[in-house]
Amino acid sequence: MTRVRQTLERLGYTEHTDFDYEVEIRLYGVQRLWADAVLWDGQIPVVLIEVEGREADAPTGWAEARLKAIAWNPEDPIPIIWVAAGQQDRCYWAVEPDRRAGVCYVALDGQPDQLLCPDRLATLVGDYLRRQGAYLGHSGAGELQYRQILLDAFRGLSSSWDDHRRCQALLNALHGSRSRRLPNALRGIAERFGPILRGGSADPALAHAFRWLMRRYMRPLRPGRNDPVRRYGRYFTPSEVVQFLVQAVDPKPGERILDFACGTGGFLGYAARHLMERYGADPRNIAGQLFGYDRDATCVQITRTFVGLLLPGFQGSLNISQGDGLRLHRNDRDLQEFDVVLSNPPAGDLPENWERLGQEGYQWAGRGGGRQNLYEVAFLEQAIRLTQEGGRIGLVLPEGIWTNAQLRTLREQFLSRVTIRAIVGLPRGVFPFTPSKMCAVVFEKHRPPRGVEVLLAEVTRPKMSEQLSVLARQIGA
Ligand SMILES: C[S@@+](CC[C@H](N)C(=O)[O-])C[C@H]1O[C@@H](n2cnc3c(N)ncnc32)[C@H](O)[C@@H]1O
Repeated sequence: MTRVRQTLERLGYTEHTDFDYEVEIRLYGVQRLWADAVLWDGQIPVVLIEVEGREADAPTGWAEARLKAIAWNPEDPIPIIWVAAGQQDRCYWAVEPDRRAGVCYVALDGQPDQLLCPDRLATLVGDYLRRQGAYLGHSGAGELQYRQILLDAFRGLSSSWDDHRRCQALLNALHGSRSRRLPNALRGIAERFGPILRGGSADPALAHAFRWLMRRYMRPLRPGRNDPVRRYGRYFTPSEVVQFLVQAVDPKPGERILDFACGTGGFLGYAARHLMERYGADPRNIAGQLFGYDRDATCVQITRTFVGLLLPGFQGSLNISQGDGLRLHRNDRDLQEFDVVLSNPPAGDLPENWERLGQEGYQWAGRGGGRQNLYEVAFLEQAIRLTQEGGRIGLVLPEGIWTNAQLRTLREQFLSRVTIRAIVGLPRGVFPFTPSKMCAVVFEKHRPPRGVEVLLAEVTRPKMSEQLSVLARQIGA
C-alpha cells in the first residue's frame, strides 16, 4: 500500500480529495465489498486499486478487482483497474461494454506512473466521464475556470483533512471567518468571493462551480452504515435531475417553494434561476419565496451559499435553516402550506426510532398499524401534508415505491389522493453510492380526474440530459 500511495502522491494526487482507501461497494444493497483504494474524479470513481502482498497473488487480485469494479455499477463499471501485487503492477481497461458479452477488461501496456498521470488518465477515461458527464454538466468556460480555482484551493489544504472538513473550511472562508487560522490556501478565495455573497452581482458560474465542489461533502468517507452520509441519505442530486423537476413543476412568482431535505440546495437554486429566467422575477422577492431545511448544519450552510451566490445580498431574506423535515409542522406553528414542494429526500430504513410519527399525525409512516418505517414513505406523506390543495410536487424516490408489494395499500391511498403527471425512471448509478434505482415523480395534490394521462418514461445513461429536457417540455406543454 505504501508503494501505491507514493505513486499516487508522486502523480500529484491527494488523499481524501483524489483518492481514498477502503472504499465500500454495496452489491445490490445486500452484500458489501471493499476496494483497497479508489482514485476519484470528484465523486466518480475512475481507478479501482487492489493490493496484494505477494506477486504470486496477482491472479486473485485481478479477479477480485474485476468483481468490485463491476459491482460498483454493473451498467457502467469503473473503467480502470490497477492490481499492485508485491513489486509488480498491472493496469486494465474496460473496453466498451458489449451487451451480450458483458464487460471486458484488457491489460494496458505501461506502468501506473505513466498510465495514471492526470493527462493520460483523462484521455483513457474521457468517454466514461462523458457518459457520466450528464451528472457533471457545466454551464460554460467561466464555470470550468472557477472549478479549477476552487479545486486548487482544496488541494492546498492540509493533507490530514478529509474532504468534509475541507468543505467546511471553504464555507468558513467564503462567509468571512476572521480567524487568523484561515489556511493560506483559502485566503485568496475569501478575499475574492466573500464580498460577492455580501452583496456583489450574481455570479451563476461561480455558484454552480461551488455546488459542483460541494458534491464532496455528499460522498461517504467511512465504510459501513454508520457513515453519516449513508445513514441520512446525504447524496448529491445531479443538476440535470434537479433542472428536470424544476421545469416540470414550474414554480411561479409569489409561490412558496419548499425543499425539506435541501442538501446542497440544488432545487432551491434552480427554482430561483427558473423564476428569474422564465418570469423575470425580482431577486428580492424570490429570496422570500424559498424555504429549505436540512438536519445537517453544513448542508444548510452550503445551500445558503449556493442560493446566496445566485441572489447576492438577499441572504438575510432566505428561509433556509437547520431542522428536521419530518417534524416541520411541529417545530414551526406558523408554517403555512406550500404551493410547490421539490425535493430528493433520503430513502431506506428510518435511522431513528420513529414510533412517534403515528402520534404526530402520520398515517403511512412509522411503526405498527400497517405503517412503513421508511424514509421515502415519511417524506412522501410529509410532502402531501405540507402542500396546499392543488399544489405541485416533484420528488426523487426509489423506484420500489411503485413495485414493493408491502407498499400496496399505501400506494392505493396515495393514488386516490393525488394526480400523477409523470414518472421518469433514472439510470442506475445516478447516485453513485447507492445501488437503488431511482425515479423522478411529478404530481399534484388533488383527486385524479377521470381519464388523466400519466407520462411514463425511462431515461438512459448517455443521453440523460437531452432526454430529460424533452420530457420537461412535454410535461409543461
Ligand atoms: C439526497 S440528499 C438531498 C440532495 C439535494 N437535493 C442536493 O441538491 O444536493 C438528502 C438530504 O436530506 C437530509 N436529511 C436526512 N434526514 C433528514 C431529515 N429528517 N430532515 C431534514 N433533512 C434530512 C440529508 O442531510 C441530505 O442532505
